[in-house]
Amino acid sequence: MPTDQRPRPPVPVIIDCDTGIDDALALLLAVRHPGLDLRAVTCVAGNTDVDGVVRNTLTVLEQAGAPRIPVARGAGRPLIEGVRTARHVHGHDGMGDLGLPAPARTPADVDAVTLLRREILASPRPVTLIPTAPATNIALLLRTHPEVTRNIERIVFMGGAVATGNATPVAEFNVWHDPEATAIMLTAGVPITMYGLDVFQRVIVPGPDVRRLRASTEPGTRLAGELLAHRGPVTDEADPGGGLGDAGAVCAVADPEGLTTHRLPVEVSLAPGPTRGQTVVDRRARPGESELHGGTREQPLVDVALDVDVARYVDLYLTAVERPGGRATM
Ligand code: BDR
Ligand code: CA
Repeated sequence: MPTDQRPRPPVPVIIDCDTGIDDALALLLAVRHPGLDLRAVTCVAGNTDVDGVVRNTLTVLEQAGAPRIPVARGAGRPLIEGVRTARHVHGHDGMGDLGLPAPARTPADVDAVTLLRREILASPRPVTLIPTAPATNIALLLRTHPEVTRNIERIVFMGGAVATGNATPVAEFNVWHDPEATAIMLTAGVPITMYGLDVFQRVIVPGPDVRRLRASTEPGTRLAGELLAHRGPVTDEADPGGGLGDAGAVCAVADPEGLTTHRLPVEVSLAPGPTRGQTVVDRRARPGESELHGGTREQPLVDVALDVDVARYVDLYLTAVERPGGRATM
């Protein structure tokens, strides 16, 4: 029987993103959900170049009427790979070419790694990190300031796939973009949840809900509708539904009960060739011949999302984003 009925204080979170249509959906949720306290946003090259990511992130926060949350520019390219954008999905400007205004807000005068360290260590309660982009900034943070792990509650990252990839047949875009960074993140020594493509692709907001959001007179709500309509998949031209994408990882922090996870060994394939960037998830019930013949390797245990309550997360998203005023302060 529950003994403590007091409302829980909001969870301090930091989003590291490559805004990005669905990263924008994630930001809108994080600033409007009453159970979350978005303390900083850091930007990294991914869906578009890093300066575009900074601009898009500031625009989204402004449109949402969010408090003055610090936003910092991070890595302009992965640790080893070159820049490989996803403009064919996210548009030339990375935001679906919706014609959004340039932001009046400006980024923090510190780099992403510095801001991450500062905000993590300054938080009165341990922070949950939500990377929705290639993990370059996170890897640089962990290598530069490993002491931050003492005030990280958990990392809930969008990336990887148990089954099928998108950037390649087996690799998901964020991990494929910077596999070495993901490998560093997975071995950080803090609890990690992998919100991979297996659940990411399933959480779709129905067309009538998207239409209602688009018709809203409130700018942040309307933006969510425009972004969802852009992303598809479009099953009915007159009434398109849209995927929450990265915003699902934020749902997983606000409402972990909506996600089914299993704690499993996960290894990133760093080898050149067709498996590079694959998250190899070991779902076997018992050791195989490799281990029996001395091939045992230490692999980090990750809480891998295998199932999601789609209706629950759609409802959570709509409730938060349509909430009059949200947590926003103009
Ligand atoms: C991931 O790649 C990007 O296109 C999305 O923003 C998401 O983070 C999905 O593979
Ligand atoms: Ca993203």
